[in-house]
Amino acid sequence: MTRFTQVSGLEVLDSRGNPTVQVTLVADDGAGYVAGVPSGASTGTREAVELRDGDKARYAGKGVTQAVGHVNSEIADLLTARAWSSLEEVDEALIALDGTPTKARLGANAIVGTSMAAARAFAGTSPLWQSLQPAGVIPRLPVPHFNVLNGGVHAPNDLDFQEFMVAPVGAPSFPEALRAGAAVYARLRALLQAKGEATGLGDEGGFAPNIARPEDVLTLIVEAITAAGYPTGRAGVAIALDPAASEFYRDGAYHVAGETLTSDDMIARYEAIATDFPVWSLEDGLAEGDWDGWQRLTARLGDRVQLVGDDIFVTNPAIITEAIARHVGTAALIKVNQIGSITETLRAQEICRAAGYAQMISHRSGETSDTFIADLAVATGTGQLKTGAPARGERVAKYNRLLEIAATRPDLPYGLIS
Ligand code: PGA
Ligand code: ZN
Repeated sequence: MTRFTQVSGLEVLDSRGNPTVQVTLVADDGAGYVAGVPSGASTGTREAVELRDGDKARYAGKGVTQAVGHVNSEIADLLTARAWSSLEEVDEALIALDGTPTKARLGANAIVGTSMAAARAFAGTSPLWQSLQPAGVIPRLPVPHFNVLNGGVHAPNDLDFQEFMVAPVGAPSFPEALRAGAAVYARLRALLQAKGEATGLGDEGGFAPNIARPEDVLTLIVEAITAAGYPTGRAGVAIALDPAASEFYRDGAYHVAGETLTSDDMIARYEAIATDFPVWSLEDGLAEGDWDGWQRLTARLGDRVQLVGDDIFVTNPAIITEAIARHVGTAALIKVNQIGSITETLRAQEICRAAGYAQMISHRSGETSDTFIADLAVATGTGQLKTGAPARGERVAKYNRLLEIAATRPDLPYGLIS
């Protein structure tokens, strides 16, 4: 049993300079456990509700003093009132205390921060990944998906696709994968400089040049992988895309680099991209409301390219269940703050595992130096993680945590599951 003597929230800044929630729990043995809450910019409409103050005079309405206040009052009262036997018990009590289906009253930011800190408390002195490991799951170091070039709402450029990631699928180990990612990133910077393109960065640490056509970006990335000395594709360094298509879907059409495209035009475009470039995974290729398009996309490309649902599934067990039944997508993106508790995140992951649906653990574009998702990825053996560029403190914190795990447990397998 675990008893908490102190529960406190604090309004801190995230990597974008916006307020976010930090939660600290103190157990009765005096040990403290801290968690920092991530925050998205291209959010799905069905995500759990991040509570923001809305006071325009303070942080442009983005303050989180109400969410922090809920941690310090109602959540603190709940958690200090009794002893707790498991994380699941804590999360269920938090969900019941909130009382809404979307965590809108207390705020998903208040609840997920408390849930993350509680998970650490239940781990105590054991590694977090060991404590989070579900029964029967083989822990695994994930293939890191480095977001090396940013567009969409994560960068002030003309590029409509949000994320261009490099994934060292063929690397022999996690440390070698990280080295490959850093090498490609450095080569890409040099290539951009040589072409007179800007090398300023977007929100996730990738470069943000003013290049509009996704195919032009892909050509550059292939060049960078080759220049770094790696084979392109699954045997070496492959590419993953997250266009985040909900963000350029307006009035029933997709708007890419000045063109107006239907769902079927987009599907044909992706098919051509998958033929011309070593793209192994495509996330949010179509908008979250375009389920019919998603079904056709899955039928057409699902056996060649991993099709990951982010905005469309929002880590929600019920929506993922529906997606699997309707043959929509082949993988789910897993973000703890989309659903708002670790127990529900693990449930969504269990549903994927049982159905043979792949999973990619993910950060948010607004991050802290919290490394929870690195441990979660290892614990749940998903084989895939995306947490930004191999640069910027809040991104490399997660990759460096994986290096630590790899160093202490060199026996853990690395790579994709199949
Ligand atoms: P977000 O972006 O954190 O801004 O939602 C990440 C993603 O779309 O995968
Ligand atoms: Zn996404």
